[in-house]
Amino acid sequence: MKGLILSGGKGTRMRPITHTAAKQLLPVANKPILFYGIEAIKSAGIKDIGIIISPETGEDVKAVVGDGSRWGIKIEYILQDQPLGLAHAVKTARPFLKDDTFVMYLGDNLIKDGVAPLVKRFNETSVDAFILLKEVNNPSAFGVAHLDGNGRILSLEEKPAHPKSNLALVGVYLFTKNIHKAIDEIKPSRRGELEITDAIQRLITTNYHVGSYVLQSWWLDTGKKDDMLEANRVVLDEMNDVSMLGDLQEGSRISGRVRIGKGSILKNCTVRGPAMIGDDCVLEDSYVGPFTSIGDRAQVTHAEIEHSILRENCQILDFHGRIEDSLIGVNVELTRSNFKPVAFRLMLGDDSKVEVV
Ligand code: G1P
Repeated sequence: MKGLILSGGKGTRMRPITHTAAKQLLPVANKPILFYGIEAIKSAGIKDIGIIISPETGEDVKAVVGDGSRWGIKIEYILQDQPLGLAHAVKTARPFLKDDTFVMYLGDNLIKDGVAPLVKRFNETSVDAFILLKEVNNPSAFGVAHLDGNGRILSLEEKPAHPKSNLALVGVYLFTKNIHKAIDEIKPSRRGELEITDAIQRLITTNYHVGSYVLQSWWLDTGKKDDMLEANRVVLDEMNDVSMLGDLQEGSRISGRVRIGKGSILKNCTVRGPAMIGDDCVLEDSYVGPFTSIGDRAQVTHAEIEHSILRENCQILDFHGRIEDSLIGVNVELTRSNFKPVAFRLMLGDDSKVEVV
């Protein structure tokens, strides 16, 4: 069995952050989202993974992920030169996939239980495809499945205006080679894409067997800022160890589950977990509240930060205010000279400079 991870796309819903970075490389608990998918596939015993990349962000993805040796697996890159849909990505990957069965994993999705239990189910039942579903409040934003009373799939529809159920298609699928024939038989959708949802529907229409399973544990699709913050919250909340590799200097105190990386210095700071601070950070006279992760080499002075993601090399200096529900890109400089107490909600792309005066 092979793994196919999709890490193309333009990430338009995450601009300005994704003007300079692939959305799949944004960090959740200081680790690129894409790594969660790679690790989930690896833990299902799959050692051969193809990653679909786009011309815009492909080189970054390659540079960050590498050839897979750090996980003891083999990673190959497959260029999809235009974003023509998920089924088009599978078509592009055909020379890599050959006739093997495969797990397809959308690189911006996170699921709690990984893919090993699904692969086991797939191997135990002789289906041609296996999909994962999850109850959601906004089914129109996803592919939607309509099941009969016995849990058999009646139909699938991509982002329907009038959804027949609240069961969304999760971005993790298992396929046999029969999916390729179905992809060859479908036409582009209204949005001009070859939809994987339509290809699976085609399997159903042509009497192939499609199994499904409704996830009870969490699933996160990190398409927008608030989804990223929610993913960060959920993953930090599951962290159950404390690790202090930095230097906790006078007046500093940490409580709850907190990880602080090597080389980081905290002076007169309070950190309340779950929270994560990377390596070589300097924090002074500041408060870091729950559900916050701070990337390597950040500097923070006179600031309160809560429920936020700060990327590497951020400088938040003499801020004298509170930052919450924020996503702040790489190399951002944020300073302030008006000390009236206020709170900020920010989404700042890489290299931004903000002065509040
Ligand atoms: C894609 C699929 C959709 C699925 C979703 C899961 O949508 O087309 O069926 O529910 O991923 O994340 P997209 O994120 O490309 O809009």
